[in-house]
Amino acid sequence: MPSARFHIMTFGCQMNANDSAWLARALRSLGYAQAEREEAEIHILNTCSVRGKPENKVYTELGRIRLLAAAAPEKKILACVGGCVAQQMGEKMFRRSKELRLIFGTDAVALAPQAIDFLVKHPGQRLSLLDFSPELTEREQRIELGRPAASAFVNIMQGCDNFCAYCIVPYVRGRQKSRKTPAILEECRALLGRGAREITLLGQNVNAFAQDSQGDGTSFAALLRRVAALPGLARLRFMTSHPKDMSQELILAFAELPNLAPHLHLPLQAGSDRILRAMGRGYTLEEYLRLTRALRAARPDLQLSTDIIVGFPGESEEDFQATLTAMQEADFCASFSFAYSDRPGTKAEGLPDKIPRPLALERLARLQAWQAANSARILAARVGSQAQVLVEGPSPRPATQGDSLSWQGKDACGFTVHINAPHSLDIAPGALLTVKINGHSNHALLGTLCRA
Ligand code: 5AD
Ligand code: SF4
Repeated sequence: MPSARFHIMTFGCQMNANDSAWLARALRSLGYAQAEREEAEIHILNTCSVRGKPENKVYTELGRIRLLAAAAPEKKILACVGGCVAQQMGEKMFRRSKELRLIFGTDAVALAPQAIDFLVKHPGQRLSLLDFSPELTEREQRIELGRPAASAFVNIMQGCDNFCAYCIVPYVRGRQKSRKTPAILEECRALLGRGAREITLLGQNVNAFAQDSQGDGTSFAALLRRVAALPGLARLRFMTSHPKDMSQELILAFAELPNLAPHLHLPLQAGSDRILRAMGRGYTLEEYLRLTRALRAARPDLQLSTDIIVGFPGESEEDFQATLTAMQEADFCASFSFAYSDRPGTKAEGLPDKIPRPLALERLARLQAWQAANSARILAARVGSQAQVLVEGPSPRPATQGDSLSWQGKDACGFTVHINAPHSLDIAPGALLTVKINGHSNHALLGTLCRA
């Protein structure tokens, strides 16, 4: 039985977080124990290269691991780098760290546990697993005994075929490969059987699910209908959608499926048609807004969130103003916004008229100030209403009433809710509570329990 302990540090998106959670389960089932960074012999960095200077973060971490190794040479510290930066940088990373002994790319997560086990037993060796596989390898499910989190994530596909001009994802995650529908349903069923109440289906572009060489042709809306019908599912969510692939069938799903949560993350990226064209997004602003209107007609309580890039090459003040106006029209409840950054090998890297960073940051600040005010307005409009809240766990906010405990959860739209509930009530993660909303903070709603 191996006695080594492992620590995983995860950067980036929910897909990476989900990969890391699977890796942890797989390593535990091989007999390794999860530990804090200072205690661990095996250090895994699961990386992201979508923005910023991600390789620098990885080298900084490898430097910290080197210090841990120098302080305790008897521990035989082993470092592994996986995910998008590993795929992008490849074996040249080995030169930067002698502790680094495994580099695994985005298609090799399924192989990483065995590779780590091999390296622990063969201290002189190094391995790199960087090939893209033409097929998506089904991972052993390794759903552990015991209760999973109330809210679970299920990967339905890998990679992306869109090649938006700014984006490195198709290069580091490869072409789109979908899982087969029965395998997805089986994983969802197993999670629900163990007590999960909410499932989020994950992929880079879920709307194009199964429309690839690996896919079985099931439309994404049909997949949603089948998952939504599984017994025990209180809420279904999905991420991320591409506006150009939103079908009429998917819009109707919001009207048809009561447990499909009334929230959609629909990246707009920019509000100027000229910039959208240069980004290669495949829709105009008017087409995007038409979609939002159709979605809200299907589901009047729908909340929309988005991703925005400011400072794309050639963006004028007028283009930026078009983005602000578009955000007002779409009335986003939240947005993830970023200053454009060059990614190696992308089309945008070679474009002229790069925007000076201070100007891009100044636009970003203006956009974020608008979003903060709009989010606050949407939260304030909730005060006085009732919400169904799926409890995630105890809240870090202290209870405001003497005999209460404070719990935290999410309402159907995905807003965080802090709940005061009587001390005497037996509440557990996964409970669905009716909550009276009586206040809000910058990012969350505050409420008291009506009834369990
Ligand atoms: N620069 C800035 N933001 C980017 N994103 C993707 N690539 C870049 C880039 N080169 C943002 C997009 C995407 C989100 C995940 O990250 O908004 O939707
Ligand atoms: Fe990147 Fe565009 Fe694919 Fe999204 S749809 S992952 S932005 S290439």
